[in-house]
Amino acid sequence: MENIYLLRRKKLSSNMRNGDMCIIFSGKQVRISRDEYYEFNTNKNFYYLTGLKDENLILFIRKINGDVKSTLFIENRPEDMIKWIGKTILKDEAISISSVDEVIYIDEFYSFLNNIILEEESPTVYFDFDRDDYRHAHIYSEECANKLKVKYPHVDIKNIYVHIKNLRIIKDDYEISKIKGAIDITRLGILNIMRNLKPNMYEYQIESYFDYMIKYSGANGYAFKSIVASGENAVILHYIENDNKIKDGDLVLFDLGAEKDFYRADISRTFPANGKFTDRQKEIYNIVLNAQLKVIDAICPGVSQSDLNEIAKENLYLGLKKIGKIANREELSNYYYHGIGHLLGLDTHDVGGRDFVYKEGMVVTVEPGLYIKDEGIGIRIEDDILVTKDGHEVLSSGIIKTVDEIEGFMRENCN
Ligand code: GLY
Ligand code: MN
Ligand code: MN
Repeated sequence: MENIYLLRRKKLSSNMRNGDMCIIFSGKQVRISRDEYYEFNTNKNFYYLTGLKDENLILFIRKINGDVKSTLFIENRPEDMIKWIGKTILKDEAISISSVDEVIYIDEFYSFLNNIILEEESPTVYFDFDRDDYRHAHIYSEECANKLKVKYPHVDIKNIYVHIKNLRIIKDDYEISKIKGAIDITRLGILNIMRNLKPNMYEYQIESYFDYMIKYSGANGYAFKSIVASGENAVILHYIENDNKIKDGDLVLFDLGAEKDFYRADISRTFPANGKFTDRQKEIYNIVLNAQLKVIDAICPGVSQSDLNEIAKENLYLGLKKIGKIANREELSNYYYHGIGHLLGLDTHDVGGRDFVYKEGMVVTVEPGLYIKDEGIGIRIEDDILVTKDGHEVLSSGIIKTVDEIEGFMRENCN
């Protein structure tokens, strides 16, 4: 079987002309202060095309006679540095993981580039200029592009990002299996929350049961900072303080996800702190659940994100109208004030934006909610869905969701 990263580079190069080049940086660690650094997160686009996660690497692609030639630049890390921070990727390892044609030490990058630019009469060089998500890598793209522009004003500089994005939007089988892995670890973390949730705990204390279980189960980290929002806190969509005491009778909204092998889960569940929903909480919960199920039912290739937003709103509106909370559709925005979901993958809010038509191979979230401040109730239910040829598959279907399942599990398993 062909190496997946090579296959991706070949697909990418179908957007390039013979002789065109493309340069992508993995990025470098960012300093916090003094001798301390943020944990390094490689440029996802670089990872997507190489399978490599180390810092200070450069991928150089050139299209030659319709084929793609890939050169990887790596650090030649001195022995005394290795004693402090460990080794970086070695030449043979890099070739075996990414199937690049050659590996060269990074100090030779600019002389290599100069030679190739001089070979071309009207050279075109692509960079990954995605401003929003890859600032750390972007700095290096911009720096390199500026250097080229000064030295060779005739070089045509272009942005490759849109083409990488179009590839990343559609997940291959390997990626789907990795997303499933992240979801499964998230499921274990959620079960551990349910076993240990009690009134009078602090939100950060119950958060720690998720943290422990996903780490114990091999997660590499978090897809994002967990949201653990009890009672009225849950009406703040991105509440991350997690420092309030959970009251008896509160619902607690959890929005969390593990990252495993670079792929992510993004799940929301809302549980009663004491294991039992009040009648009112149950009523509102079931309106959200019904809207979520209606949206999921409608997912298939060809449907648009705005179609699904409409289905969510219509069902939330009808539900709230039925219980007398609102009288017309305009009032819904007081209680539901976000979109239905987003693409998911290497990034939690993955490449592809918010306004798209569904295609086979996309993985999306469906996450309607209701946020009723005057009643101290915030509920969101979020699942991760694969778009298939004929419809969809709920990748997170193994995570407890109905009122009966939640109450039953908490009754039997609460510590
Ligand atoms: N956890 C952020 C989101 O659901 O989009
Ligand atoms: Mn979420
Ligand atoms: Mn989400």
